[in-house]
Amino acid sequence: MVGSGSTTYFQLLNILLISLTGVVTASPPPVKAAYWPSWSTDFPPSAIDTTLFTHILYAFLMPSSTYKFEIPTSTALQLSNFTTTLRRTNPPVKTLYSIGGGGTDSHLFARMASNAKSRQAFIISSIQTARRFGFDGMDLDWEFPENPNDMQNLGVLFAEWRRAIVHDAKTTRRAPLLLTAAVYFAVDFFLDETYRKFPVWSINQNLDWINAMCYDYHGSWDTSRTGAHAALYDPTSNISTSYGLRSWIKAGLLKSKLVMGLPLYGKTWVLKDPNSHEIGSGAVAVGPGDDGVLTYVEVEEFNKKNGAEIVHDMETVSTYSYSGSVWVGYDDAISATLKIGFGQGLGIRGYFFWALGFDSDWRISRQASRAWILGE
Ligand SMILES: *[C@@H]1O[C@H](CO)[C@@H](O)[C@H](O)[C@H]1NC(C)=O
Ligand SMILES: *[C@@H]1O[C@H](CO)[C@@H](O)[C@H](O)[C@H]1NC(C)=O
Repeated sequence: MVGSGSTTYFQLLNILLISLTGVVTASPPPVKAAYWPSWSTDFPPSAIDTTLFTHILYAFLMPSSTYKFEIPTSTALQLSNFTTTLRRTNPPVKTLYSIGGGGTDSHLFARMASNAKSRQAFIISSIQTARRFGFDGMDLDWEFPENPNDMQNLGVLFAEWRRAIVHDAKTTRRAPLLLTAAVYFAVDFFLDETYRKFPVWSINQNLDWINAMCYDYHGSWDTSRTGAHAALYDPTSNISTSYGLRSWIKAGLLKSKLVMGLPLYGKTWVLKDPNSHEIGSGAVAVGPGDDGVLTYVEVEEFNKKNGAEIVHDMETVSTYSYSGSVWVGYDDAISATLKIGFGQGLGIRGYFFWALGFDSDWRISRQASRAWILGE
């Protein structure tokens, strides 16, 4: 009978409401981000469906040898167009510009971060650039700090950067700029000869969040076997998204600062034996695509055109397809959704995609946005 026990229905409801409020206030708004490659001529900022994202990152800007941003007119026009377009969309999204990127001069960042004067020049110029073009923040994609000394300097850079951002917010009376960084999938480079670990203490204090690049675990550098390049689990190694994300948390990173990378592209191989088409099967070369990379749109086209067999592998939580001797490892809406579930279970802040323009009719982006309900 209602109300006759020691805990009444009303009390139960109260407990439920209190715990629900606790959950809601404990989790900050989610991050549903994506990088926009600025060289994607066939996918302008106006083509972005902003209902599916909270933050869009312009990829990339690079400082000059003086560590300042010297922006040519054509780039300036593109930056203004980017921020203006994304501010006018309904709903508007926040914009950041990402500094660096894969394949850029990592030693430039190492030199800049090693010296107080060059750090200041870089920081001041980065804030001026954000304000000049109307960005909401900056993202540093230094791939990668090479040794413990670089990591130490990175921690100092973040601290000085945050101080300058706080100062800028005070003097301009505007919201502080966001500061994020794209980082390795794991907190340390446990596979490399030169061991080094990201400065978690400084990230916790000074960054809004980090974008952990949970992909590219396998690729054209190893043509001897196929691989799930963004596997959630790997039964044979620690090269997996679950290991990487947990390593960050184990090292003390606040969960609210952790954002999981999801790829909107696949990696291809040519099978050694078309009848052996599992994850880890023998291969002899990269398959179709530039350096064996196909965007998700292209993967779907390949699958359709060739009537490829599609497999959802539950051990790794990844998707692969094969036709003849071509094998493709990727994520589709199903494997991406399972990863979203994993991320929410872990209590992290959100996810990001590399990259805009690679999805097929927003299939993965839409499914991911629907599935991520934590903090909404
Ligand atoms: C951005 O550039 C596109 C293509 O050149 C143009 O159609 C659009 O009007 C521009 N938007 C803004 C806000 O400048
Ligand atoms: C994975 O990492 C853990 C420590 O984090 C270690 O104990 C284990 O041996 C590693 N496994 C493999 C397969 O390398």
